[in-house]
Amino acid sequence: MRRVRFHTYGGPEVLRVEESEPPVPGPGDLLVRTAAIGVTLPAVRRVRGDGNGGGDPLPAIPGGEIAGEVVAVGADVHGYAAGDRVTSLTLTGSYTELALAPAFLASRIPDGASAVQAVALVRGGQVALAALDTAAPKGAESVLITGAAGGTGHLAVQLAKLRGVSRVVAAVSSAAKAPFLYGLGADEVVTYDQESWGEPVDIVLDGVGGELLPRALAALAPGGRLIFFNSGGGTVPAYELLAGAKTITGLTMRRFSTVQRELYERHREELWELAGAERLRAAVHTELPLADAAKAHEIIEARTNLGKVVLRP
Ligand SMILES: NC(=O)c1ccc[n+]([C@@H]2O[C@H](COP(=O)([O-])OP(=O)(O)OC[C@H]3O[C@@H](n4cnc5c(N)ncnc54)[C@H](OP(=O)(O)O)[C@@H]3O)[C@@H](O)[C@H]2O)c1
Repeated sequence: MRRVRFHTYGGPEVLRVEESEPPVPGPGDLLVRTAAIGVTLPAVRRVRGDGNGGGDPLPAIPGGEIAGEVVAVGADVHGYAAGDRVTSLTLTGSYTELALAPAFLASRIPDGASAVQAVALVRGGQVALAALDTAAPKGAESVLITGAAGGTGHLAVQLAKLRGVSRVVAAVSSAAKAPFLYGLGADEVVTYDQESWGEPVDIVLDGVGGELLPRALAALAPGGRLIFFNSGGGTVPAYELLAGAKTITGLTMRRFSTVQRELYERHREELWELAGAERLRAAVHTELPLADAAKAHEIIEARTNLGKVVLRP
Protein backbone atom coordinates (compact mmCIF):
# COMPACT_ATOMS: atom_id res chain seq x y z
CA MET A 1 0.00 0.00 0.00
CA ARG A 2 1.02 3.63 -0.45
CA ARG A 3 1.35 6.12 2.36
CA VAL A 4 2.82 9.59 2.92
CA ARG A 5 5.42 10.24 5.62
CA PHE A 6 7.75 13.00 6.74
CA HIS A 7 11.26 12.21 8.00
CA THR A 8 12.15 15.76 9.04
CA TYR A 9 9.95 18.64 10.14
CA GLY A 10 9.29 21.30 7.53
CA GLY A 11 6.93 22.60 4.87
CA PRO A 12 4.99 20.63 2.26
CA GLU A 13 8.26 19.65 0.52
CA VAL A 14 9.15 17.17 3.30
CA LEU A 15 6.15 14.91 2.49
CA ARG A 16 7.19 11.72 0.72
CA VAL A 17 5.11 9.01 -0.92
CA GLU A 18 6.30 5.53 0.10
CA GLU A 19 5.30 1.88 -0.28
CA SER A 20 4.81 -0.18 2.88
CA GLU A 21 3.12 -3.24 4.33
CA PRO A 22 -0.42 -2.65 5.62
CA PRO A 23 -0.77 -2.12 9.38
CA VAL A 24 -2.29 -4.91 11.48
CA PRO A 25 -5.37 -3.94 13.50
CA GLY A 26 -4.81 -4.32 17.24
CA PRO A 27 -7.51 -4.72 19.89
CA GLY A 28 -10.25 -2.13 19.36
CA ASP A 29 -9.00 -1.12 15.90
CA LEU A 30 -10.62 -1.02 12.49
CA LEU A 31 -8.47 -1.38 9.40
CA VAL A 32 -10.02 0.97 6.83
CA ARG A 33 -9.37 1.24 3.08
CA THR A 34 -9.45 5.00 2.81
CA ALA A 35 -11.57 6.65 0.13
CA ALA A 36 -11.19 10.21 1.47
CA ILE A 37 -8.71 11.79 3.88
CA GLY A 38 -9.23 15.19 5.51
CA VAL A 39 -6.41 17.76 5.36
CA THR A 40 -6.43 20.08 8.37
CA LEU A 41 -4.48 22.99 9.78
CA PRO A 42 -3.38 20.92 12.82
CA ALA A 43 -1.92 18.28 10.44
CA VAL A 44 -0.01 20.94 8.54
CA ARG A 45 1.31 22.37 11.82
CA ARG A 46 2.44 18.93 13.00
CA VAL A 47 4.47 18.40 9.83
CA ARG A 48 6.23 21.63 10.79
CA GLY A 49 6.94 20.13 14.23
CA ASP A 50 4.47 22.58 15.70
CA GLY A 51 1.83 20.22 17.07
CA ASN A 52 0.24 20.84 20.44
CA GLY A 53 2.63 19.39 23.01
CA GLY A 54 5.67 19.18 20.70
CA GLY A 55 6.65 17.36 17.53
CA ASP A 56 5.74 13.81 16.55
CA PRO A 57 8.47 11.15 16.77
CA LEU A 58 9.98 10.84 13.27
CA PRO A 59 9.34 9.48 10.74
CA ALA A 60 5.60 10.08 10.97
CA ILE A 61 2.47 9.82 8.84
CA PRO A 62 0.46 13.06 8.92
CA GLY A 63 -3.29 13.45 9.22
CA GLY A 64 -6.08 12.36 11.48
CA GLU A 65 -9.36 12.05 9.56
CA ILE A 66 -10.56 9.35 7.19
CA ALA A 67 -13.58 7.85 5.51
CA GLY A 68 -13.68 4.54 3.69
CA GLU A 69 -14.51 0.86 3.96
CA VAL A 70 -13.63 -1.48 6.82
CA VAL A 71 -11.44 -4.35 5.55
CA ALA A 72 -10.63 -6.03 8.88
CA VAL A 73 -11.37 -5.59 12.58
CA GLY A 74 -9.12 -6.22 15.58
CA ALA A 75 -10.00 -8.18 18.71
CA ASP A 76 -12.70 -6.72 20.97
CA VAL A 77 -14.40 -4.79 18.19
CA HIS A 78 -18.17 -5.09 18.30
CA GLY A 79 -20.67 -3.59 15.91
CA TYR A 80 -18.40 -3.29 12.84
CA ALA A 81 -17.51 -5.81 10.14
CA ALA A 82 -15.63 -5.87 6.84
CA GLY A 83 -17.56 -3.94 4.19
CA ASP A 84 -19.00 -1.29 6.53
CA ARG A 85 -18.55 2.31 5.35
CA VAL A 86 -17.22 4.46 8.17
CA THR A 87 -15.66 7.80 8.92
CA SER A 88 -13.31 8.31 11.86
CA LEU A 89 -10.60 10.25 13.54
CA THR A 90 -7.38 8.24 13.62
CA LEU A 91 -4.90 8.36 16.44
CA THR A 92 -1.96 7.56 14.17
CA GLY A 93 -1.47 9.18 10.77
CA SER A 94 -4.15 8.99 8.14
CA TYR A 95 -2.34 9.78 4.84
CA THR A 96 -2.35 6.15 3.78
CA GLU A 97 -4.37 3.74 1.64
CA LEU A 98 -4.99 1.48 4.64
CA ALA A 99 -5.41 3.27 7.96
CA LEU A 100 -6.08 2.16 11.52
CA ALA A 101 -8.98 3.82 13.30
CA PRO A 102 -10.09 3.13 16.87
CA ALA A 103 -13.63 1.70 16.65
CA PHE A 104 -14.80 3.99 19.49
CA LEU A 105 -14.06 7.05 17.35
CA ALA A 106 -15.69 5.69 14.20
CA SER A 107 -19.24 6.15 12.93
CA ARG A 108 -21.14 4.85 9.95
CA ILE A 109 -21.61 6.83 6.76
CA PRO A 110 -25.32 6.89 5.87
CA ASP A 111 -26.42 5.25 2.60
CA GLY A 112 -26.32 7.72 -0.23
CA ALA A 113 -23.59 9.89 1.34
CA SER A 114 -20.05 9.82 -0.05
CA ALA A 115 -16.75 9.37 1.78
CA VAL A 116 -15.70 12.86 0.67
CA GLN A 117 -18.86 14.34 2.15
CA ALA A 118 -18.21 12.43 5.38
CA VAL A 119 -14.73 13.90 5.94
CA ALA A 120 -15.93 17.36 4.93
CA LEU A 121 -18.92 17.24 7.28
CA VAL A 122 -18.43 15.20 10.41
CA ARG A 123 -15.35 16.38 12.30
CA GLY A 124 -15.65 20.06 11.37
CA GLY A 125 -19.38 20.01 12.01
CA GLN A 126 -18.92 18.37 15.39
CA VAL A 127 -16.36 20.97 16.43
CA ALA A 128 -18.67 23.76 15.27
CA LEU A 129 -21.72 22.39 17.09
CA ALA A 130 -19.74 21.65 20.26
CA ALA A 131 -18.40 25.22 20.21
CA LEU A 132 -21.82 26.77 19.57
CA ASP A 133 -23.63 24.74 22.22
CA THR A 134 -20.85 25.27 24.77
CA ALA A 135 -20.86 29.01 24.09
CA ALA A 136 -24.59 29.55 24.14
CA PRO A 137 -26.70 26.55 25.15
CA LYS A 138 -29.79 28.78 25.00
CA GLY A 139 -28.79 30.55 21.80
CA ALA A 140 -27.20 33.94 21.13
CA GLU A 141 -28.03 37.09 19.22
CA SER A 142 -24.61 37.61 17.65
CA VAL A 143 -21.58 35.42 16.96
CA LEU A 144 -18.20 36.19 15.40
CA ILE A 145 -16.26 33.29 13.89
CA THR A 146 -12.55 33.54 13.06
CA GLY A 147 -11.10 31.32 10.31
CA ALA A 148 -14.68 31.37 9.04
CA ALA A 149 -14.00 30.02 5.54
CA GLY A 150 -12.01 26.94 6.68
CA GLY A 151 -13.13 23.33 7.04
CA THR A 152 -14.59 23.97 10.50
CA GLY A 153 -15.39 27.67 10.14
CA HIS A 154 -17.64 27.47 7.08
CA LEU A 155 -19.80 24.89 8.85
CA ALA A 156 -19.87 27.03 12.00
CA VAL A 157 -21.22 29.98 9.97
CA GLN A 158 -24.11 27.90 8.62
CA LEU A 159 -24.81 26.13 11.92
CA ALA A 160 -24.93 29.44 13.81
CA LYS A 161 -27.64 30.63 11.40
CA LEU A 162 -29.46 27.30 11.77
CA ARG A 163 -29.29 27.75 15.56
CA GLY A 164 -31.15 31.05 15.13
CA VAL A 165 -28.28 33.53 15.59
CA SER A 166 -29.50 36.74 13.97
CA ARG A 167 -26.07 38.32 13.35
CA VAL A 168 -23.22 36.05 12.22
CA VAL A 169 -19.94 37.86 11.59
CA ALA A 170 -17.40 35.88 9.56
CA ALA A 171 -13.78 36.95 10.12
CA VAL A 172 -11.09 35.94 7.60
CA SER A 173 -7.65 36.94 6.37
CA SER A 174 -8.73 37.95 2.87
CA ALA A 175 -11.70 39.83 1.40
CA ALA A 176 -11.63 37.37 -1.50
CA LYS A 177 -13.45 34.92 0.80
CA ALA A 178 -16.44 37.23 1.28
CA PRO A 179 -18.68 35.98 -1.59
CA PHE A 180 -18.27 32.39 -0.36
CA LEU A 181 -19.24 33.41 3.19
CA TYR A 182 -22.23 35.55 2.20
CA GLY A 183 -23.35 32.60 0.09
CA LEU A 184 -23.37 30.47 3.25
CA GLY A 185 -25.54 32.97 5.12
CA ALA A 186 -23.01 35.20 6.94
CA ASP A 187 -24.53 38.58 7.78
CA GLU A 188 -21.21 40.43 7.86
CA VAL A 189 -17.71 39.58 6.65
CA VAL A 190 -14.68 41.32 8.15
CA THR A 191 -10.97 40.88 7.46
CA TYR A 192 -8.50 40.66 10.33
CA ASP A 193 -6.67 43.80 9.21
CA GLN A 194 -9.78 46.00 9.31
CA GLU A 195 -9.60 48.62 12.01
CA SER A 196 -13.09 47.82 13.25
CA TRP A 197 -14.86 44.48 13.21
CA GLY A 198 -18.23 46.17 13.70
CA GLU A 199 -20.54 46.16 16.71
CA PRO A 200 -19.40 43.92 19.61
CA VAL A 201 -20.83 40.39 19.73
CA ASP A 202 -22.14 38.04 22.42
CA ILE A 203 -20.00 35.08 21.39
CA VAL A 204 -16.70 34.55 19.58
CA LEU A 205 -15.75 31.15 18.19
CA ASP A 206 -11.98 31.47 17.79
CA GLY A 207 -10.59 28.97 15.31
CA VAL A 208 -7.35 30.95 14.80
CA GLY A 209 -5.91 32.24 18.11
CA GLY A 210 -2.25 33.35 18.25
CA GLU A 211 -1.82 37.06 17.58
CA LEU A 212 -5.52 37.32 16.78
CA LEU A 213 -6.68 36.27 20.26
CA PRO A 214 -6.56 39.75 21.91
CA ARG A 215 -8.45 41.17 18.92
CA ALA A 216 -11.05 38.39 19.11
CA LEU A 217 -11.53 39.06 22.84
CA ALA A 218 -11.88 42.78 22.19
CA ALA A 219 -14.70 42.00 19.73
CA LEU A 220 -16.84 40.66 22.60
CA ALA A 221 -19.51 42.78 24.23
CA PRO A 222 -19.32 43.06 28.05
CA GLY A 223 -20.28 39.72 29.60
CA GLY A 224 -19.48 37.89 26.33
CA ARG A 225 -17.85 34.52 25.96
CA LEU A 226 -15.04 33.32 23.67
CA ILE A 227 -14.69 29.63 22.83
CA PHE A 228 -11.03 28.83 22.22
CA PHE A 229 -10.72 25.69 20.10
CA ASN A 230 -7.75 26.42 17.83
CA SER A 231 -4.18 25.19 17.56
CA GLY A 232 -2.76 28.71 17.27
CA GLY A 233 -1.94 29.33 20.95
CA GLY A 234 -1.75 32.92 22.12
CA THR A 235 -1.64 35.06 25.24
CA VAL A 236 -4.75 36.13 27.11
CA PRO A 237 -4.86 39.85 28.02
CA ALA A 238 -6.27 39.29 31.51
CA TYR A 239 -7.32 42.91 32.00
CA GLU A 240 -9.74 42.56 29.06
CA LEU A 241 -11.50 39.76 30.96
CA LEU A 242 -11.70 41.80 34.13
CA ALA A 243 -12.80 45.06 32.56
CA GLY A 244 -15.47 43.51 30.36
CA ALA A 245 -16.53 40.61 32.62
CA LYS A 246 -15.65 38.36 29.68
CA THR A 247 -15.10 34.61 29.74
CA ILE A 248 -12.84 32.30 27.74
CA THR A 249 -13.71 28.61 27.58
CA GLY A 250 -11.32 26.06 26.08
CA LEU A 251 -12.75 23.22 24.00
CA THR A 252 -11.17 19.99 22.80
CA MET A 253 -13.14 17.33 21.02
CA ARG A 254 -11.16 14.68 22.86
CA ARG A 255 -12.74 15.81 26.12
CA PHE A 256 -16.11 16.88 24.73
CA SER A 257 -16.63 13.50 23.02
CA THR A 258 -16.16 11.63 26.30
CA VAL A 259 -17.62 14.01 28.91
CA GLN A 260 -20.59 14.99 26.72
CA ARG A 261 -20.96 11.72 24.84
CA GLU A 262 -24.73 11.90 24.42
CA LEU A 263 -24.66 15.42 23.02
CA TYR A 264 -21.68 14.52 20.81
CA GLU A 265 -23.65 11.65 19.25
CA ARG A 266 -26.76 13.80 18.89
CA HIS A 267 -24.68 16.41 17.08
CA ARG A 268 -23.44 13.80 14.62
CA GLU A 269 -27.02 12.72 13.83
CA GLU A 270 -28.08 16.34 13.49
CA LEU A 271 -25.26 16.99 10.99
CA TRP A 272 -26.28 14.11 8.73
CA GLU A 273 -29.96 15.12 8.97
CA LEU A 274 -29.19 18.72 8.02
CA ALA A 275 -26.88 17.64 5.19
CA GLY A 276 -29.44 15.08 3.94
CA ALA A 277 -32.12 17.79 3.89
CA GLU A 278 -29.66 20.08 2.02
CA ARG A 279 -29.88 22.68 4.78
CA LEU A 280 -26.15 22.38 5.54
CA ARG A 281 -23.45 22.33 2.86
CA ALA A 282 -20.06 20.77 3.57
CA ALA A 283 -18.05 22.61 0.94
CA VAL A 284 -15.08 20.82 -0.61
CA HIS A 285 -12.40 23.26 -1.75
CA THR A 286 -10.54 20.63 -3.72
CA GLU A 287 -9.95 16.89 -3.98
CA LEU A 288 -6.39 15.81 -4.75
CA PRO A 289 -4.73 12.40 -5.13
CA LEU A 290 -2.89 11.14 -2.03
CA ALA A 291 0.40 11.54 -3.92
CA ASP A 292 -0.32 15.30 -4.08
CA ALA A 293 -0.42 15.68 -0.30
CA ALA A 294 2.25 18.40 -0.57
CA LYS A 295 -0.02 20.45 -2.87
CA ALA A 296 -2.84 20.05 -0.36
CA HIS A 297 -0.60 21.38 2.41
CA GLU A 298 0.47 24.30 0.21
CA ILE A 299 -3.20 25.30 -0.12
CA ILE A 300 -3.70 25.30 3.66
CA GLU A 301 -0.43 27.18 4.23
CA ALA A 302 -1.45 29.79 1.65
CA ARG A 303 -4.70 30.28 3.64
CA THR A 304 -6.78 30.17 0.47
CA ASN A 305 -9.13 27.25 1.11
CA LEU A 306 -12.87 27.78 0.92
CA GLY A 307 -14.13 24.76 2.87
CA LYS A 308 -12.42 21.41 3.13
CA VAL A 309 -9.30 20.12 1.40
CA VAL A 310 -9.57 16.37 0.74
CA LEU A 311 -7.09 13.72 -0.42
CA ARG A 312 -8.30 10.76 -2.50
CA PRO A 313 -6.10 7.64 -2.30
N1 LIG B 1 -10.27 21.76 19.75
C1 LIG B 1 -10.41 20.73 18.94
O1 LIG B 1 -10.68 19.61 19.39
C2 LIG B 1 -10.27 20.95 17.49
C3 LIG B 1 -10.68 19.98 16.58
C4 LIG B 1 -10.55 20.26 15.24
C5 LIG B 1 -10.03 21.47 14.80
N2 LIG B 1 -9.63 22.38 15.72
C6 LIG B 1 -9.06 23.68 15.31
O2 LIG B 1 -9.93 24.35 14.45
C7 LIG B 1 -9.17 25.23 13.62
C8 LIG B 1 -9.61 25.06 12.18
O3 LIG B 1 -9.16 23.80 11.73
P1 LIG B 1 -9.59 23.26 10.31
O4 LIG B 1 -8.95 21.95 10.15
O5 LIG B 1 -11.05 23.37 10.11
O6 LIG B 1 -8.95 24.35 9.37
P2 LIG B 1 -8.78 24.29 7.80
O7 LIG B 1 -9.96 23.95 7.05
O8 LIG B 1 -7.60 23.45 7.64
O9 LIG B 1 -8.49 25.83 7.44
C9 LIG B 1 -7.52 26.51 8.01
C10 LIG B 1 -7.96 27.96 7.99
O10 LIG B 1 -7.44 28.51 9.19
C11 LIG B 1 -7.02 29.84 8.95
N3 LIG B 1 -5.67 30.00 9.51
C12 LIG B 1 -5.39 30.69 10.61
N4 LIG B 1 -4.09 30.66 10.88
C13 LIG B 1 -3.51 29.96 9.89
C14 LIG B 1 -2.18 29.59 9.61
N5 LIG B 1 -1.17 29.97 10.40
N6 LIG B 1 -1.95 28.84 8.53
C15 LIG B 1 -2.95 28.46 7.73
N7 LIG B 1 -4.23 28.78 7.95
C16 LIG B 1 -4.51 29.52 9.03
C17 LIG B 1 -7.08 30.07 7.46
O11 LIG B 1 -8.14 30.98 7.17
P3 LIG B 1 -7.86 32.56 7.34
O12 LIG B 1 -6.58 32.84 6.62
O13 LIG B 1 -9.04 33.18 6.71
O14 LIG B 1 -7.74 32.78 8.81
C18 LIG B 1 -7.38 28.74 6.84
O15 LIG B 1 -8.25 28.80 5.76
C19 LIG B 1 -7.70 24.88 13.84
O16 LIG B 1 -7.11 25.84 14.68
C20 LIG B 1 -7.78 23.54 14.55
O17 LIG B 1 -6.69 23.32 15.38
C21 LIG B 1 -9.75 22.14 17.03
